[in-house]
Amino acid sequence: MTVGDSVEGAPPHAPVLSTRLTRLLGVRHPVLNAPMGDTAGGRLAAAVTAAGGLGLIGGGYGDRAWLERELEAAGGSRIGVGFVTFALVHDAAALHAALDAGPAAVQLSFGDPRPHADAVHAAGAMLLCGVHTPEEVDRAVEAGADVLVAQGSDAGGHGRRGPSTMAVLPSIRDRVGDLPVVAAGGIGDGRGVVAALALGADGVSMGTRFLATAEAITTAAERRAVLEARATDTVRTDVIDVVRGPAWPTGHDGRVLRNRLVDEWESGCGPERAAQRFSAADVDDVSVQPVWAGESVGVIHAIGTVEVVMEEIMDEVARTTGMLAAMRADRAAEVTS
Ligand SMILES: Cc1cc2nc3c(=O)[nH]c(=O)nc-3n(C[C@H](O)[C@H](O)[C@H](O)COP(=O)(O)O)c2cc1C
Repeated sequence: MTVGDSVEGAPPHAPVLSTRLTRLLGVRHPVLNAPMGDTAGGRLAAAVTAAGGLGLIGGGYGDRAWLERELEAAGGSRIGVGFVTFALVHDAAALHAALDAGPAAVQLSFGDPRPHADAVHAAGAMLLCGVHTPEEVDRAVEAGADVLVAQGSDAGGHGRRGPSTMAVLPSIRDRVGDLPVVAAGGIGDGRGVVAALALGADGVSMGTRFLATAEAITTAAERRAVLEARATDTVRTDVIDVVRGPAWPTGHDGRVLRNRLVDEWESGCGPERAAQRFSAADVDDVSVQPVWAGESVGVIHAIGTVEVVMEEIMDEVARTTGMLAAMRADRAAEVTS
């Protein structure tokens, strides 16, 4: 990793960091938006790319009509697309529609990427594989992944129960040598980016931070809930998968803002009562509907455009790396005096 000395006086979007990821993907900043199903559409992905990162559309479970609309909304920008891999076992049409559009990257998370790897590479796209466990890492390497996206349990949305990003990252870095690794989970600002790099990552994938932008597909109620939430207000739960489906593989659940439905589920209301409550709720009623979000909600205090958010993140990266360098210099002065 190479760190720019200072961004003072630098033009907006000037590179601050050069990592294996920025060089491989040809981007200015080592920042991806997470492929959030139904939420990261073409407008968000295009804005992240325009701001110097790599934007990804959240293809989710593979709704082809939604995806084609969002690919169109990306307006020909250089973007990637992500999918929940186990859903492609039944129907891979959305993946093939995405590949026909010539994406820069395809992220496959939650399932075996190996059956799709050749098609992704044949389309000229980088293969990004979401991983949590050592077994998933080995499978992704066997698939020929170009980048691993290491997700900890602090992440928003679906994932594995288990260790946080802070614990997952160094162990995955040690396992894969020089393969680029992207950190996902709990990173909401520039301090988090620097911490992830220190733990062995080459870049970050942020979901919750980009959820709170003007370009994300969210309701006003969701945006308000994210702004009001503190880091302690999220919880991992399987209630949404139980009442809405699809069923997720063992060991997975999702992180949401705690609400009344989660409280009742944890108090033992049972699947029937929870399903009734869910189906009767208004789509805007965040006391019942899930607001998928991670522990980084605690550092999100405003909704901005992607451009502004990216600039804030990278300014903070520069300040934080500058502060670390100054600490090192101070220590050196102490030792020599
Ligand atoms: C609203 C939302 C929807 C998500 N949907 C998906 C998805 O469809 N596929 C996927 O691989 N990950 C999904 N994720 C997880 C992200 O890919 C990523 O791992 C996570 O957002 C990173 O943690 P953070 O939210 O703390 O930044 C979603 C996350 C959020 C917040």
